[in-house]
Amino acid sequence: MNSDKLNKKSIGYTLRTNWQLVIIVIVIFIVLFFELLKSSNIDNSSTLSTQLNDSTWVPPSLFTDNELTGPQRDMVIYGEDIIANTARYFGPAGSIAPISNGMNCQNCHLNAGKKNWGNNYSAVYSTYPKLRQRSGEIEGIYKRVSDCFERSLNGSAPDSNSKEYKAIYEYIKWIGQDVKKGEKPKGSGIDKLTFLDRAASPEKGKQVYTAQCLSCHGTNGEGQLTLSGTSYEYPPLWGDHSYNIGAGLFRISSFAGYVKTNMPFNQATHSNPKLTTEEAWDVAAFVNSQPRPKKDISKDWPDISQKPFDHPFGPYADGFSETQHKFGPFKSIIAKIETLKKEK
Ligand code: HEC
Ligand code: HEC
Repeated sequence: MNSDKLNKKSIGYTLRTNWQLVIIVIVIFIVLFFELLKSSNIDNSSTLSTQLNDSTWVPPSLFTDNELTGPQRDMVIYGEDIIANTARYFGPAGSIAPISNGMNCQNCHLNAGKKNWGNNYSAVYSTYPKLRQRSGEIEGIYKRVSDCFERSLNGSAPDSNSKEYKAIYEYIKWIGQDVKKGEKPKGSGIDKLTFLDRAASPEKGKQVYTAQCLSCHGTNGEGQLTLSGTSYEYPPLWGDHSYNIGAGLFRISSFAGYVKTNMPFNQATHSNPKLTTEEAWDVAAFVNSQPRPKKDISKDWPDISQKPFDHPFGPYADGFSETQHKFGPFKSIIAKIETLKKEK
């Protein structure tokens, strides 16, 4: 007998005598194989596999950033806290100054401005200062932050020399530190939805609201305060404590895009929304037809030909009505704006 035969014989012999062990090993392999298959199909932006397949922005993390130290680190941490808990500092019972409606920046810039498709701040440091048509001026980060204090938070902005504004600035700069100048990473800002062939319907939107939003945002869109009563558990969508008519969300394309990818909160995601595109437009039309604080915006869009298609206040260069600019249908407006631009 040569050694080869001896080997074969002994392997066969070992397998036969330990058949239970062999079956267990095979079962373990099958289970592992299916687990691997499953995890590679999971649709969850926090798993490594999707981060590798999808080039959406990856925000920096305080846990892993050990280059950020000392007073600089403290400022970034303070800035993040102001974005997440704005009411604590600037709400009606705020510790620094009562200059806002009690909402938090984070209500609309989810995860303190770090969530993809959640109106994040990834492209702020990389794209400001820039010319903004709403004011007709070159705006820096301070002006843009002040705009949200004055419109979305229906209040007034902290001084540009205050520690609080500097902390917000340092935080926004830190968030965007890895983004190249001029670039907007995938997932920045608010998603743009496809247009409907009809006008968005406040009546249909009311049904969507009742079924999908009312449980948190309330019968009268008033939201719900936390137990201490100093900030919102669920922020208001209309009424005295909501954003005013000059805010970005008052344009229904912004509202619909934000809501489709993010609401109901903690249920909808960009790849797995809970509302259809139609429902998102309709609920936007409903909410933005409800009463909310006014603001003098007569100085906005000094060049009226630059007004966005869904800015609901005339006069317009394109001849369409305020109602159509508010609810759509938008395709014909956009086509007209394009031809006017070409003629210029
Ligand atoms: C009610 C919702 C809401 C709240 C609250 C809010 N914002 Fe905004 N913010 C918006 C919208 C909408 C935009 C415009 C997004 C777009 O058009 O892509 C915006 C834009 C911005 C931008 C510019 C983003 C960019 O990429 O150009 C900054 C900076 C900003 N907000 C800061 C703040 C800060 C700081 C606070 C708190 C003081 C705040 N926002 C509170 C809705 C809100
Ligand atoms: C499970 C509770 C819940 C439901 C249901 C829900 N939301 Fe929200 N919504 C929230 C919370 C919480 C926030 C603030 C998120 C944060 O601060 O991190 C929010 C924020 C918002 C905002 C931005 C802040 C503001 O108040 O303007 C809008 C707009 C919004 N929701 C619209 C909707 C719409 C429309 C629906 C229905 C399609 C809906 N939400 C369903 C909990 C909910």
